[in-house]
Amino acid sequence: MLNIALPKGRLGEKVYAMFEKAGFPCPSILENSRKLIFENKDAAVRYFWVKPSDVAIYVERGAADIGVAGKDILLEYEPDVYELSDLKIGKCKMAVAAPKGFRDDRSRTLLVATKFSKTAQRHYASVGRDIDIIHLNGSIEIAPILGLSDVIVDIVETGTTLRENDLEIIETLFPISARLIANKSSYKFKTDQMDTIVRELSLQTEEL
Ligand code: PRP
Repeated sequence: MLNIALPKGRLGEKVYAMFEKAGFPCPSILENSRKLIFENKDAAVRYFWVKPSDVAIYVERGAADIGVAGKDILLEYEPDVYELSDLKIGKCKMAVAAPKGFRDDRSRTLLVATKFSKTAQRHYASVGRDIDIIHLNGSIEIAPILGLSDVIVDIVETGTTLRENDLEIIETLFPISARLIANKSSYKFKTDQMDTIVRELSLQTEEL
């Protein structure tokens, strides 16, 4: 049985559709319910829905053999897993944003609100800018509006949230997409099955 951690939400549904097309169906997953674990003995797969930012933890610790996590999460938490492939979906970017017209006063410590503290720290260390991190768990965009921070480091997908809150990108840090990840020891024992999945999924990503 191959244990697969899917990120709960729209991205996870897309990912499941790709796995189904790749020959690993589990129809019960499409039933509307609050169940979190689904299994198809015939296809030898067990899927479970987890919070997107937790997928890498399940995979790193071997509770899941493989899973799908955003590059943002992999760069922030640096889990000890194999990154098997880029699924080329869930595309967005990590960016620094600020209220329109913001000018950085380098004589002051810059206040940075973010869910991605390590990522932000790494970025500002690389440019030698002195900062204070304000770690938040969501709705990051309101921090500079309320004077809690000068800038934010956050994910931008369509740009709508920034626009509707009068913020703008001042720096793009890196592109993000969903990655197929594997537990290191599971990969040793289930190499064939995992390589098949990588191959089948890559046929689909070529079409994207
Ligand atoms: C993410 C991100 C931005 C928003 C960007 O938030 O943190 O707030 O999506 O998307 P957009 O560019 O398409 O507007 P999420 O929806 O995960 O909610 P959060 O506020 O809990 O972080």
